[in-house]
Amino acid sequence: MELFEAIQTRRSVRKFSDRPVEDDKLQQIFEAARMAPSWANMQCWRFILVKEQATKEQISELSYVESFFAPKGYKVNPAKKALAEAPVVIVACADPAKSGVLWDQTYYMTDLGIACQNLWLAARGLGLGTVFVGVFDESKLRELLDIPPEIRVVGLFPLGYPFEEKTGGPARRPLSEIVSREKWNL
Ligand SMILES: Cc1cc2nc3c(=O)[nH]c(=O)nc-3n(C[C@H](O)[C@H](O)[C@H](O)COP(=O)(O)O)c2cc1C
Repeated sequence: MELFEAIQTRRSVRKFSDRPVEDDKLQQIFEAARMAPSWANMQCWRFILVKEQATKEQISELSYVESFFAPKGYKVNPAKKALAEAPVVIVACADPAKSGVLWDQTYYMTDLGIACQNLWLAARGLGLGTVFVGVFDESKLRELLDIPPEIRVVGLFPLGYPFEEKTGGPARRPLSEIVSREKWNL
């Protein structure tokens, strides 16, 4: 798939068919993440590939949304079922010590954001679907997956073949609302 088509048609996919994900496609997805740019090329990202059904179900249980934090008033994370039902869950982690902190900016999140978008677009390009799940109980997830305390868990990606082709999706702000010329004028 051509790059701009993948960018334009990528959607959050939360429902999957039973078709397993081929290992060579997983390899290509990780390869796309691996090629992302990062702070001083330190590549602070680390990924865990989860296929065990019991583990996916436990991860799903940890994706709860605290009511004070729930975006749009969700009581349950809209991706909760997806985490249990997807053939694969990728857990995206960061080692903050392998990235920068400068002038109040913490760059491991930037590094992970870029790598995860590569992962997401690669999945789309290969006919797969996923969603960035950013709301979960990090400390319980750390316990479940033996993740060391210094490592941050940044996102969960339930991944599989989409149950159906998604069209449309949440609208974006027009360019006139997000781009100004020469100086801030928004
Ligand atoms: C950092 C981040 C965290 C997100 N966390 C969640 C989440 O916890 N649960 C969920 O269902 N979707 C989550 N999403 C998906 C967004 O809701 C989705 O990308 C957005 O509504 C735009 O829809 P689209 O991806 O179909 O274009 C997250 C996306 C990002 C980038």
